[in-house]
Amino acid sequence: MPLLNESVKDKILHAIETRTGSRLYKGANNLWRALAGRFDGQRRAQRIAELERIELEGIVNQEQNVGWVTPDRFEKFPTASLGRHQVLRGLQEAIGARTYLEIGIDNGASLSYVDMPSIGVDPAPHITYDLGEHIQVHIEKSDDFFAKPDAVEHFDGVPLDFAFIDGMHLSEFALRDFMNLEKLMSRSGVIVFDDMLPRNDLEAFRIRRTNAWAGDVYKVMEILEEHRPDLVLLPLNSNPTGTLLIANLDPSSRVLDERYDELEAYCTTPDPQVVAPRWKRRESAVDPATVIASRAWSLLRQSRGAADADALIDQAMAELRSIPTVS
Ligand SMILES: C[S@@+](CC[C@H](N)C(=O)[O-])C[C@H]1O[C@@H](n2cnc3c(N)ncnc32)[C@H](O)[C@@H]1O
Repeated sequence: MPLLNESVKDKILHAIETRTGSRLYKGANNLWRALAGRFDGQRRAQRIAELERIELEGIVNQEQNVGWVTPDRFEKFPTASLGRHQVLRGLQEAIGARTYLEIGIDNGASLSYVDMPSIGVDPAPHITYDLGEHIQVHIEKSDDFFAKPDAVEHFDGVPLDFAFIDGMHLSEFALRDFMNLEKLMSRSGVIVFDDMLPRNDLEAFRIRRTNAWAGDVYKVMEILEEHRPDLVLLPLNSNPTGTLLIANLDPSSRVLDERYDELEAYCTTPDPQVVAPRWKRRESAVDPATVIASRAWSLLRQSRGAADADALIDQAMAELRSIPTVS
């Protein structure tokens, strides 16, 4: 039972991801801000100066404890109904995924509950969960993994139905993860990104400054909005830092490859990051529980191998597009 193996840190994170836990967390955070804000100016300036000396080149991850909880305010947004792991579990079931691939597995928490053939990729995992034989772990950076011609041999020719991107939280890495994954996905497949809705600017800095770190991966959502209007993009109001569901995938699309140099220049704009208020307020986000309950999933399941697959996929996308925003 994975739950029995969880570390205290995991239990706290899971608690924060529930509606009640989120409220308690917000309360504690407000109290902290009220107390720390007064004293924190000098310490904050010192810490920022230290963090600015970090070189991004060659970094595998920034999972170190920054030892500092930001006193910056979170933007106001509607209380989320589900945490990201609950979103993943719900979607895996709803999609009826035949295969699953996760980039960035850390301790294996989000990988541990999948029961279909799965692949996890992480250059520096700290696995504490029991992962069964149906899960193959690749200890390498995602770029290196995707460069291998036999990367997804474990799936034995079955198309990829579901993928989760939660690796390096810098947008150019996350963008490449998306570009590489889309080419492997089934037309009825779904990709979910973590950390797409940072709650303040500091959470989105490229050099980690906060304990809960989203990084600047939200820029990928902006890029996809502009350059891939064919995709269905649903930002999900999940705890703690929001997720993004992407459907209507097109494995044959090369639009992003052709524009990559220009897109990379946008991704690598240095700190400070300034996140558009609409993301921080989650204005276009939808309720993940409503998404999980959508009729779209049964249509997508039916579409697999069906003669009228395109029509069924179009109907499913119309269902997803009709889900109202939370604000
Ligand atoms: C936030 S953790 C993943 C948490 C996990 N998905 C979960 O929800 O339980 C991010 C992970 O991404 C990994 N990572 C960093 N750079 C990466 C890269 N280039 N490719 C794949 N994974 C990477 C880190 O080693 C770290 O374990």
